[in-house]
Formats: sequence, C-alpha cells, structure tokens
Amino acid sequence: MIGLIGGTGTKSILDNYDTIETKTIDTKYGKSLEISIIEVESKKVAYMPRHSKGHSVPPHKINYRANIEALDMLGVNKVFATNAVGSLDTNIKPGDILIADNFIDFTHGRNNTFFDEEVVHIDATKPFCDDLRSNLTSSGDVHPYGVYISTQGPRFETKAEIDFYRLIGGKVVGMTLTPEVILAREKQMCYASVCVISNYAASISPTKLTISEVSEAMDEASERLINLIASAIKKTDTDYVCECQSILDDAII
Ligand code: HPA
Repeated sequence: MIGLIGGTGTKSILDNYDTIETKTIDTKYGKSLEISIIEVESKKVAYMPRHSKGHSVPPHKINYRANIEALDMLGVNKVFATNAVGSLDTNIKPGDILIADNFIDFTHGRNNTFFDEEVVHIDATKPFCDDLRSNLTSSGDVHPYGVYISTQGPRFETKAEIDFYRLIGGKVVGMTLTPEVILAREKQMCYASVCVISNYAASISPTKLTISEVSEAMDEASERLINLIASAIKKTDTDYVCECQSILDDAII
C-alpha cells in the first residue's frame, strides 16, 4: 500500500478525499496512532498526520519510530511525505514545490534507528527513492533537485546558520525530514519528500519570520500539492520492486 505522511499545513489533503476507514494502531514505540485510509486515484492510501491528530506534537518530539512502524504494520511499502520548508535560494520562492534529492542532518537527540540491539549500517548515499522522485518530478512544475538541511528546531534559524547552510549547498531548511526518511529506509520502504516552500529562510527574507506566513503559503500551495501527489500516486505501482527493498542486504554485520 502507498503511505502519505502529511506535515504542517496539509490537512487539506485529508479533507479532499473520503476516508474509507480510520485505523488506530499500537506499536512497541507508541500507542494509539490514528491513520486514515483514503482512496486516491482508485488506490488505497494510508494517510498519517506526522504531528498527530490536531497537529499537536512539535518536530523535535515526534515519535518518528512509532509513525514508521505503524505504516509498516499496515503493509505500506511506498511513502510520499510532505515537508514545509524555508528556502535558502531566492530562485526558489514561497509557494514553490521542491523534490529533495539529498539531505544534511543537524538534528540531535532523536531516536534515529530501529537497530539499537544489532549492528546495522544502511547505505544512505542516495536517501530518496529514484522511482518515487521521478513520479513526482514528472507530475508538475517543481524544482526537481535540492539538498534539504534538517534542523532540530523548534526555533527558526539564526542569520549565521543560514549563511552556513547556503555555503554548504543547502537549498531548503526544515525540521521534520530526519530521522523519518532513514527509518523508512531501514524498513526497506521507498520514500520521497515533497517540500513545500512556506517562506524564505530567516535573513533571506527582509521581514521577521512568522508562523502565519508559513500557514498562508501552505494554504496557497495546497491545491497544487494535492494535484501533484495524486498524479504521482497514479503513476506508482506498489508491486514494483526497486533497490530500496534490498537495502538491508549487506548492511548487517
Ligand atoms: N526553517 C526551518 N523549518 C521550517 C522553515 C524554516 O524557515 N519553514 C518551515 N519549516
């Protein structure tokens, strides 16, 4: 089954589709996770609100392991995730959509693996699924590449941090991609991130960054986001096996 992880400002995705069923899942990492089964382009899709019901959990407190474990328990093998991000590049504007092709992780203190008892080192050279990425990049007017800088939050960045992130090649900055993408990879799922630009990152924007600016840009982009994801879902064959399904071969000592 296809999974869809909805981030900040993406409740409209859920509102756009009829919910066939709501599942409450208990995992060994966390209990009572609500997942809505919706139908998109005649396919069943498991919609998970990343921040839990009512957007109640901040990025650094999200139980990423429970979220991914629950999707795995439902048989999800292909995941589209949405991430609200700030732009580090004036050519990438609020309201634009970027399909990230790599990341640099500055988060800390998050449970970032399912393998605490075994020695497992998965390859993360190209952390996103090529097949899902191409289903997205061929489905709409998007920036097809860009490095996602993953920050701990919950505060926004300083000017010096943004200068540094630009210097090291970052295109967008956000707080929710890691460890989610890596946990999905450890479950041998295909995973792609749809980054919705909600603002210019701090100091690139001439004005102080506000959360209402973030919400407004997300609302404005919502129709394009829904169309893009629906079109990518239509192209996604859950039976198609790619390299993501054999990531654990050669990873376990
Ligand atoms: N920085 C970090 N996370 C974000 C931003 C930002 O500017 N916008 C949305 N999420």
